[in-house]
This record gives sequence, C-alpha cells and structure tokens, in this order.
Amino acid sequence: MSIENVKHAEAVDAYSQSNLISTTEGEALDHAYSNSSKNGIPEIALSPVQGKFLNVLATMSGAKNVLELGTLGGYSGIWLARAVSKHGGKVTSIEIDPKRRDVATENLEYAGVGDDVEILLGPGLEVLPRIAKEIEDGKRERFDFTFIDADWENQYTYLDWAVKLSKKGSAIYVDNVVRQMLESGIVGDEKRDPEADDLVALTGKDDRVEATLIQTVGAKDYDGFLLAVVR
Ligand code: DHB
Ligand code: MG
Repeated sequence: MSIENVKHAEAVDAYSQSNLISTTEGEALDHAYSNSSKNGIPEIALSPVQGKFLNVLATMSGAKNVLELGTLGGYSGIWLARAVSKHGGKVTSIEIDPKRRDVATENLEYAGVGDDVEILLGPGLEVLPRIAKEIEDGKRERFDFTFIDADWENQYTYLDWAVKLSKKGSAIYVDNVVRQMLESGIVGDEKRDPEADDLVALTGKDDRVEATLIQTVGAKDYDGFLLAVVR
C-alpha cells in the first residue's frame, strides 16, 4: 500500500455511488445537479457519497432540528431532509443569494422535501442573530445538527454561532476545511491570509466542543471536514 493508490480515489467514489445509492434515491439528486447547472449555480455541491455520509451522520445523531449554512442548490438539503423528515424533523437553511434560494426551492420540491426545509434568505451573520432571538423567545427549538458550507473566511464565526444555537451533544460538520487551510496559508505554501478564520486552532482552544478533522479524497478532489460535538 502506498499513497500512490490515491489515483484510484475517483473510481472508488464512482463504484461506491453505483452500489450504495439506489436509482430511486438518486433520481431527485441527479435532477438537483442538472437543474442547478442549467441555472448557472457553481458545481460545488457535495458528491453523492459525501451527501449520503451527511445523511447517515444526521440519522445516527437522531437529529430533529438541522441548521445548514449555505443552501446552494439544495443538494445537501435533500440529503439532510431525508434523514430528519422520517421522525418529523426539519432543516433550516440560510442562503445569501436569491437565485440560489429559488433554484434550491425547485430542487427540494422536486425531491418531495419542500415542506421539510425552510430557507432563510440573507447573510449568515444577519440571519443567525435573528434565529438566536427566536430561540430566546421560545419560538424555535435549539438545533441538534449543523452543516456549515458557506464562505470559508468565517468558518469559525459560524461554528461559534452553531454552538450557541445548539443543544448539548449536537454535531457540527464544517465542509472544505482542508481547502480553506491550504488556500489561506494556514498550512502549506501560500502566503498567510490574516483575515481568514483559523478554524482548527480556534476550535482546539474552544472548551465548548470536542472536535476532529478528517481529510478526504474522491470525486471532490482532496479536501476534508471538521466534525465537532457540543459538550
Ligand atoms: C468548492 C467546494 C465546496 O464544497 C464549496 O463549498 C465551495 C467551493 C470548490 O470546489 O471550489
Ligand atoms: Mg462545500
């Protein structure tokens, strides 16, 4: 075995996808991809097996109230909604771009989960305090699973919000953490960007959570995610 075998990563993804994701399960997801591209939304959604991983995690955690930052075309929203709708849960997803919100709404409706996902339009840093107020006023339950897939500069700022809005024992998944570390020069050869949140260092000092980082390869190239649990 050697790291050279990483050349097979995409083939392994394709093989896993064809064996582990059924045609029935995949149809609405294919539609979400094609309708998103047709509408000019960048092709940066999770891969099918990554989406299913999120679905398995949300199912394992028994989540009822899911928070998503960065709806994009609703691809991850479909996977999350499928995990929670079985037991009456719902997804609250924040999206800054009205065009993406509209396409996501179509894709979620096509997948039959339109009623399980509420999309709140606006910048995360404006919408999150509104959600906090609703929780404070008893109008909304705390979250038990959060998927952060928004702008990379604010990854820790979003994690901080997620912790504040979550129940104890909740999971927080942050996407694209390795790409962010490399592009902002936290690790690697690039010049360090002083504006970007150092998610890993800040999370490591944060006593409210227990966290790890897992590197990934496959259809979405080389990247990785941070997974935290709220103490
Ligand atoms: C990219 C991938 C993502 O998952 C994302 O959230 C943003 C950008 C990318 O591949 O560039
Ligand atoms: Mg992402």
